[in-house]
Amino acid sequence: MNQGFNENSLADRASKVLMNTYAQTPIALERGAGCRVWDREGKSYLDFLSGIAVTALGHSHPQVTAALKEQAEKILHTSNLYYIEPQIALAEQLVEKSFAQRVFFCNSGTEANEAAIKLVRRYATERFGPEKRTILCLENSFHGRTMGSLSATGQTKFQKGFEPLLPGFSFAPFNDLAALDRVWDGTIAAVMLEPVQ
Ligand SMILES: Cc1ncc(COP(=O)(O)O)c(C=O)c1O
Repeated sequence: MNQGFNENSLADRASKVLMNTYAQTPIALERGAGCRVWDREGKSYLDFLSGIAVTALGHSHPQVTAALKEQAEKILHTSNLYYIEPQIALAEQLVEKSFAQRVFFCNSGTEANEAAIKLVRRYATERFGPEKRTILCLENSFHGRTMGSLSATGQTKFQKGFEPLLPGFSFAPFNDLAALDRVWDGTIAAVMLEPVQ
């Protein structure tokens, strides 16, 4: 088996049709089970990445697979214009087992942060007016690649070329309480942090 050749040709195909937004490692994963994944040549790897912490239940768990199959056989998509019972059932469980009182479902981390930014702005504007709606973020943070989340991200390398960014964000150095005190002013409505930076 010539893994190098195959993955080179896959990279070649990808380079012709995928936008080059990510530097990809030349491994093409084909299947997974639990915490292990296999490439197209059958070589196995321990998956310490879990889809950047997304596949937290491991790969191809039989119960997850069965639930996906069962739902796909009934209906795949209804849009947010209609109720669908499993969505409400999941929200009920999340509310019961977490601190939250209501749930907003979205498709990505950056979209979740967009929603948080919008919630803060709406709440702060209604409550305090336009003078107090800045979101304080940390230098070297990462919050995603859509325009709001990118503007909250404290790393210029992700922002370069996408200006103008959204206004309304200020930044403080990481792990520096005195600096937080210095930048804190009457305009700050919320603080946006990564649980692990
Ligand atoms: C801390 C943090 N916030 C937000 C995001 C954006 O998530 P997504 O890639 O699902 O949009 C990431 C992604 O790596 C992240 O690590």
